Amino acid sequence: MDSDERLLALLRADEFVSGEAIAGALGISRAAVAKRVGELRKRGFDIAAAPRRGYRLDALPDALSADVVAARLTTAWLGRAWRHLARVESTNDEAATWARAGAPAGAVVVADEQTLGRGRLGRRWHSPPGASLYLSAVLRPPLAPHRVPPLTLAAGVAVAEALVQFDVAPALKWPNDVLVDGKKIAGILTEMSADLDRVHHVVSGIGVNLNVRAFPEELAAIATSVAIVRGTTVARAEFAAALCARLEHWHDRFVADGAAPVAAAWRQHARFFGKRVQVTAGRDRMEGVAEDLDEDGALRLRLDDGRTLRVVAGELAIAADAT
Ligand code: BTN
Repeated sequence: MDSDERLLALLRADEFVSGEAIAGALGISRAAVAKRVGELRKRGFDIAAAPRRGYRLDALPDALSADVVAARLTTAWLGRAWRHLARVESTNDEAATWARAGAPAGAVVVADEQTLGRGRLGRRWHSPPGASLYLSAVLRPPLAPHRVPPLTLAAGVAVAEALVQFDVAPALKWPNDVLVDGKKIAGILTEMSADLDRVHHVVSGIGVNLNVRAFPEELAAIATSVAIVRGTTVARAEFAAALCARLEHWHDRFVADGAAPVAAAWRQHARFFGKRVQVTAGRDRMEGVAEDLDEDGALRLRLDDGRTLRVVAGELAIAADAT
């Protein structure tokens, strides 16, 4: 940790910490603390100071560097190794390369911009500079490869819960779209490297449209952002720290207790169960009522002839008359 990181780690968002306590912890004078606080303010940190009470960290600058995020990070392991890049093709690729080179579980790559941001099914992920969050976490769950898929549901729940903390009420749509008012606000791309019996690593890639005010014409009808929904922007680091906390929680819960609690939490954020849906899986198209989510993340679809089908992968559209 550098000296700014150590000072930021001592400051709190909800209470004042005395200049004396900070000076003691850092082994410097109170005047030196005041000087360092002044330097952090110049970098965009909003730090309140009150006589006899000390300092309080009210807001972060809109940067995703390790020290800025660490000031809000409450996790034990996720995000404790952090790489921030200005511009990359895809944070998922960077995270996979780092994972192969030995990145610890929980290592995170974020970027201000992606030039080849990837979505599911070979699609592109709109990744303009500076406005949103492009985050990929290296996970190393101690599970057999066939047990890993619900980790994607865990990431969906984590994203939904982080959005709720920022006053956005999302709906999860199978397999893992995060929507507000029927428009996409976030997406998750989970990629795994494994042998038949051993997971090398999983990369959980999460894109959240945060401060985008206007989308290109072809996306305007299908995409939205936190800023559009709330009317105000968010500091990307605040959101990143909240997301890391929820992702760590749901990863650990899944590893400890299995997929059932993850699937139960996922269902609570979903709004399409009981509705008529169309599912496209490769060349197959099916229509029926979305009945439930199996613990492995498969969708249970009740067909018109009464049969129930398990769909493990595909795209879901909510029938127009059912929305
Ligand atoms: C989807 O809904 O299709 C998934 C979108 C996933 C986008 C994120 S942004 C961070 C990470 N890097 C990528 O290239 N993709 C994921």
